[in-house]
Amino acid sequence: MKFLLILLCFSLIRFHDSLAADDTISPNQTLLDTGQTLVSIGEKFELGFFSPQNSKNRYVGIWFKNVADLIPVWVANRDSPLLDSSGALKITETGNIVIVGNQTDNFIWSSNSSAKYPTLQLLDTGNLVVKDGSSENYAWQSFDHPRDLVIAGMTLGWDYVNGRSLNLTSWSSPQDPSTGNFTYALDPRLLPQVLLFKGRDILVRNGPYDGVRIGGDRPLKDYAVFRPNYNVNETHVYATFSDVDNSTANMFRLNPSSGSPELLRWNQGRSEWVTVYSVQKDDCDTYERCGPNGLCDSSQNRVCQCPTGFVPKVPEEWNRIDSSSGCVLKTRLNCSASEGFKKFSGFKLPYGEFSVNWTVVRNDECESICRRNCSCLAYAVALVGGCVVWSGDMLDMRLFTDGGQDLYIRMAASEFGSDGNGKRTAVIISVSVVAGFVVLFLFGWYIVRKRNSRRPSTGGDRDPVLVEEDVELPSFGFDTIAKATNNFSSTNKIGEGGFGPVYKGMLSTEQEIAVKRLSKDSGQGLVEFHNEIILIAKLQHRNLVRLLGCCIQGEERMLIYEYMPNRSLDLYIFNQTRGTALDWRKRFDIIVGIARGLLYLHRDSRLKIIHRDLKASNILLDHEMNPKISDFGLARIFRGDQTEVNTKRVVGTYGYMSPEYAIDGQFSVKSDVFSFGVMVLEIVSGEKNRGFAHPDHELNLLGHAWKLWNEGRPMELVDILMENIAKSEVLRCIEVGLLCVQKRPEDRPSMSSVLSMLDNENISFSQPKQPGFYTERSFTETDSSSSLYMPNVSAEISFTKIQSR
Ligand SMILES: *[C@@H]1O[C@H](CO)[C@@H](O)[C@H](O)[C@H]1NC(C)=O
Ligand SMILES: *[C@@H]1O[C@H](CO)[C@@H](O)[C@H](O)[C@H]1NC(C)=O
Ligand SMILES: *[C@@H]1O[C@H](CO)[C@@H](O)[C@H](O)[C@H]1NC(C)=O
Ligand SMILES: *[C@@H]1O[C@H](CO)[C@@H](O)[C@H](O)[C@H]1NC(C)=O
Ligand SMILES: *[C@@H]1O[C@H](CO)[C@@H](O)[C@H](O)[C@H]1NC(C)=O
Ligand SMILES: *[C@@H]1O[C@H](CO)[C@@H](O)[C@H](O)[C@H]1NC(C)=O
Ligand SMILES: *[C@@H]1O[C@H](CO)[C@@H](O)[C@H](O)[C@H]1NC(C)=O
Ligand SMILES: *[C@@H]1O[C@H](CO)[C@@H](O)[C@H](O)[C@H]1NC(C)=O
Ligand SMILES: *[C@@H]1O[C@H](CO)[C@@H](O)[C@H](O)[C@H]1NC(C)=O
Ligand SMILES: *[C@@H]1O[C@H](CO)[C@@H](O)[C@H](O)[C@H]1NC(C)=O
Repeated sequence: MKFLLILLCFSLIRFHDSLAADDTISPNQTLLDTGQTLVSIGEKFELGFFSPQNSKNRYVGIWFKNVADLIPVWVANRDSPLLDSSGALKITETGNIVIVGNQTDNFIWSSNSSAKYPTLQLLDTGNLVVKDGSSENYAWQSFDHPRDLVIAGMTLGWDYVNGRSLNLTSWSSPQDPSTGNFTYALDPRLLPQVLLFKGRDILVRNGPYDGVRIGGDRPLKDYAVFRPNYNVNETHVYATFSDVDNSTANMFRLNPSSGSPELLRWNQGRSEWVTVYSVQKDDCDTYERCGPNGLCDSSQNRVCQCPTGFVPKVPEEWNRIDSSSGCVLKTRLNCSASEGFKKFSGFKLPYGEFSVNWTVVRNDECESICRRNCSCLAYAVALVGGCVVWSGDMLDMRLFTDGGQDLYIRMAASEFGSDGNGKRTAVIISVSVVAGFVVLFLFGWYIVRKRNSRRPSTGGDRDPVLVEEDVELPSFGFDTIAKATNNFSSTNKIGEGGFGPVYKGMLSTEQEIAVKRLSKDSGQGLVEFHNEIILIAKLQHRNLVRLLGCCIQGEERMLIYEYMPNRSLDLYIFNQTRGTALDWRKRFDIIVGIARGLLYLHRDSRLKIIHRDLKASNILLDHEMNPKISDFGLARIFRGDQTEVNTKRVVGTYGYMSPEYAIDGQFSVKSDVFSFGVMVLEIVSGEKNRGFAHPDHELNLLGHAWKLWNEGRPMELVDILMENIAKSEVLRCIEVGLLCVQKRPEDRPSMSSVLSMLDNENISFSQPKQPGFYTERSFTETDSSSSLYMPNVSAEISFTKIQSR
């Protein structure tokens, strides 16, 4: 009897479980608040009744199933809680989802959806959908009704056709999911920017998104696990969110107390949600911090400034830290023809009155639209495409040290000095971008001295992918450089780059420079020279070496860089004496710095760039030993969707080259990842990959590291000279290094994963597989990258592309 009872109880429990394991309910079924849940097919999400912490109210919500600390990603009845556990969830015969209380049929909440043959299903994306028979389209989905957060797959934005806005509203408090006072919504005016409101007041403005970053230089790039992708066209402006690294749960949520948008990531090891990114970071993130036309620069002690050509509106007030009256133009405008536009770079484009003309993407056209209209005060060609013109005060501008966009502000002729309309004596190199692929003008690269002699674009107005761009680069005279380098004396020579000698110099301003001079005697290297000039002039990142200008005079071709007092990384890590100068902390910072620079090249700069010649000697060190990637002579730009290229001309340096590139000439971002992995292992071990010798075996450094790893003694790889070793970091670096040098490119992580692995102690790794080239004998010896160069092959990849057009 007892046994039967137990059996009966058991079968009852089983019965509950069987509903719990289901992901669907039909009109004849009910989900009760007795612990019954729906579980999505991959067991990622769960739907059921819950109470927030310190609350007795019952809500229907969806949450990550395998996350111990429940934060619901969606709450159905956020504004109408059940007061006890008598509730039930159903779907009616007509497809309406309803929550009923006290076993009656009074709806506490309903979705108001309708379907002919409805079923309610919880998908593995966390989306709760009403399906209608076998129709592809959902009759209703929870993703169309976002609450206080987004998870991957969700969208925020505007659909003008249906007049619909998808936006977030915070909870009232951490205990109360009801509609709170903070809203996070995209600006409806076609420029992708997101506003955080408290009631009707703007607190923070994110954006505009420029195609790569949100606003300036601080997108989610360093925590690139969860990314918004913006899309703008005539009828929609929206952002979709996707997991870059879905190894654990991520959400972008409005903090229930402060309203601040935050990226939360579940840390399995610590069993808690970790805030990995917060939108509000510094003073300048406060909306309109410096008043109308004021400029916020968080790198200054006094963050508020007036842009050049503007003066404080209330001069006495300007001296106070909190300067909300802002700035006015020094010289009033009267819309005379002599007025010009002053260019400001690195700006967060202003808020205020603006409009966007979507069909105009060229700078000069945008300027003439603004010039024609006397109420137009500024213009910009937004990097996502489109001409933006401002009238009235410009609000919420800030200056970024890295990134940002160009803004042109209308000013009286007197603001431009004797020079007229703001023309500068800068060298302008005109570059055509064909489908994002920068064409190197091997035969006719243009250096023109004036903007107005620019080559017109050849594709006609109908070809939307043909964009013309300017690269502006200060030009130095030959005499200036000769003087700065003691007439290129041998004592000033500090090295030999890929295409000629490198000199140290000092300008009359006492600025130290490094001068790369292209060897005159051979035609060799001209391509690299132009490549480098075009590429690096566009790039700005603290882990990339900065190009100060160039010198082109007669036969002379020179590039002028900031001088790096500590030269290059190889001089330290491979040297017994100098090696001690780099303790583990410093080495780890260098590894992370190189990874950031490389991520910027691969993904965050406007172009996708493969460096192709990463090695320790191309990593320069500034006075604080911060790493800067240099030598872009061999780098290649990839089209947005292009992932891999084949070349007959293999350039680069053996020992750092990935197998698929060295053998088949195939390169992709993953070939850079390989080189990065080699460098990481070199930095950790203080040994060169090439030339590595071990008494016990014939493996190279990669093979040696892999062997030690598999034998469970990875710490034996570590450079014995190194101090302050943090074992867990060292192990993480070795593991990252090994993952990066795996034989198959698809096994290697992307640089964004590399960074999250380096940043985050608790990310679980996949086991590294065998490295490519793990024995030294795979290759015949050649050491420098330049000696691999075959000058007669000018039919480069990029050139072939032009011909096929
Ligand atoms: C509930 O309805 C579905 C179809 O709507 C049917 O397949 C299923 O057998 C029904 N279940 C019960 C227990 O009636
Ligand atoms: C359910 O009924 C009880 C008593 O009849 C009442 O106190 C309670 O408020 C009801 N709950 C809801 C959600 O209506
Ligand atoms: C459904 O309709 C009712 C009545 O019109 C309304 O009160 C309720 O807010 C609607 N529910 C939703 C989720 O829109
Ligand atoms: C947010 O969305 C709701 C519902 O679509 C809409 O009524 C509201 O105006 C939107 N708020 C903002 C600030 O866009
Ligand atoms: C929301 O704003 C209103 C009006 O300012 C205020 O009365 C209310 O307390 C606020 N609610 C929360 C949850 O802060
Ligand atoms: C704009 O984007 C939306 C969403 O992707 C799409 O449905 C719509 O067709 C697009 N409109 C145009 C004119 O391209
Ligand atoms: C993560 O994303 C990849 C590709 O989008 C997918 O194949 C995989 O199933 C996802 N993993 C999890 C745990 O969701
Ligand atoms: C416009 O202002 C400039 C100086 O600001 C002055 O030289 C010029 O004469 C003015 N033009 C007209 C039409 O008032
Ligand atoms: C955008 O600019 C083009 C070229 O100046 C013009 O023909 C078109 O009418 C403008 N569109 C709008 C919506 O103003
Ligand atoms: C000039 O710009 C203002 C503000 O953007 C706009 O309202 C007005 O229509 C424009 N005038 C013309 C002729 O385009």
